[in-house]
Amino acid sequence: MAVVLAAGKGTRMRSELPKVMHRLVGMPMIANVLSTLKSLSPQKTVVVVAPHMESVKEAARKEMPSCLFASQSEQLGTGHAVKMAESHYANFDGTVLVLYGDTPLITTATLSHLLTEKKKHNAAIALLGMKPESPMGYGRLLMKKEPFVERIIECKDANTEEKKIPWVWGGVMAFDAKFLHEALEVLEKSPITGEYYLTTLVEMAAAKSLTTVNVPVTVEETMGVNDRVQLAEAEKLLQDKMRKKAMEEGATLIDPSSVYFSADTKLGQDVTVHPHVVFGAGVTVENGVEIKSFSHIEGATIKKKAVVGPFARLRPGTVIGEEAHVGNFVELKQTKLGKGAKANHLSYIGDSVVGADANIGAGTITCNYDGFNKYQTDIGEGAFIGSNTALVAPVKVGSYAIIGAGSVITKDVEEGALAVTRPEQVNKSGKAKEIRQRKKKSA
Ligand code: UD1
Ligand code: MG
Repeated sequence: MAVVLAAGKGTRMRSELPKVMHRLVGMPMIANVLSTLKSLSPQKTVVVVAPHMESVKEAARKEMPSCLFASQSEQLGTGHAVKMAESHYANFDGTVLVLYGDTPLITTATLSHLLTEKKKHNAAIALLGMKPESPMGYGRLLMKKEPFVERIIECKDANTEEKKIPWVWGGVMAFDAKFLHEALEVLEKSPITGEYYLTTLVEMAAAKSLTTVNVPVTVEETMGVNDRVQLAEAEKLLQDKMRKKAMEEGATLIDPSSVYFSADTKLGQDVTVHPHVVFGAGVTVENGVEIKSFSHIEGATIKKKAVVGPFARLRPGTVIGEEAHVGNFVELKQTKLGKGAKANHLSYIGDSVVGADANIGAGTITCNYDGFNKYQTDIGEGAFIGSNTALVAPVKVGSYAIIGAGSVITKDVEEGALAVTRPEQVNKSGKAKEIRQRKKKSA
């Protein structure tokens, strides 16, 4: 079973939000951790939260509907926090994996490896240790004989000599449930900070001649996120990982470092992403699509061989059909653009269905909102919408209809019809010269 600690205030974030609600690759840190745990399929997972952390519970349930919660009303330390989940492990005869909600980069493979090593060494505790460039803030691992740990010295409690120890604890430990239960019953506060440290359990195990084994792991996986600088570092590590994966799976990223993904972004083969593209949550891009620079895409599906951007904005509920084109300064929301349809310049198309091969002229706007409700626009297959048309929804334009440029369409247009709503043009010959002369005299 697993216990995830998330009750800490996260003071160093300087935020109204609980620390684990800060987002990485588009999802709250707590969801990142639970998503990793899910692939291990623990018998049960308990998330320790503070009272009033409804948002954390909600985010956790969304990622893992089966997860359970324990409440820690006073943040008396990590040892105290694990004890709050006692009722869930007191009668459990197995391994309890304890993870910190602020250590979101850990992978399933590493967690499995930790459990295997624990078994192999017949250890009461197995922990993930790392050697970061700067060990500041982390608990130092005291090892007389590697890989066995006698004690963890918290950074806040370490003296100058101890602070020089390069090995630190990375925030993941696996315990024998029985040992964990017994040890937490008698755990004492740190005389220096008054907190109950989970890390004190290592010396308690040593006192009973029980083994704690250090399982080395990279800094990339175990970095803790305690402040916004670390949040940005963690984001970068995850983004780099996703960029690499996308390229390995057959997408071309012309400038990978300028493309931003969400955890659930799906890119097909032979997709080309130009520099400076952002993928929000819920995006699927099929094979052969080209996404040009400065496009922002969320909640959208882009079908085969479509071309999007530069400067396109696709909002949730958008489906771009095969070989369709969406060009610069075009915003689509809750809109289905048919196969081969084109909206190439300066448009807002919302709550619409656009048929195959329809052409949406520059400056076309669907007026989908009257200040109270949203309405639907239907544009038929092969329809041609002239530039600068306002389509006042709800409205339907039939297949192959043509709308004259500059029209304000308030009534349905039947299939194959021409609709024009602008007044007729009047040309007055010689009038321009006359006006100029008049203006000059009065100047
Ligand atoms: C902790 C470890 C440190 C380790 C580092 C790894 C302890 C005492 N120290 O330090 O050895 O190197 O993580 O990142 O464990 N939490 C609660 N209730 C509490 C206190 C904390 O739920 O009363 C939760 C926090 O929400 C957080 C996690 O426990 O998710 C760790 O707490 P944090 O304050 O970040 O500990 P660190 O100082 O980072
Ligand atoms: Mg921390």
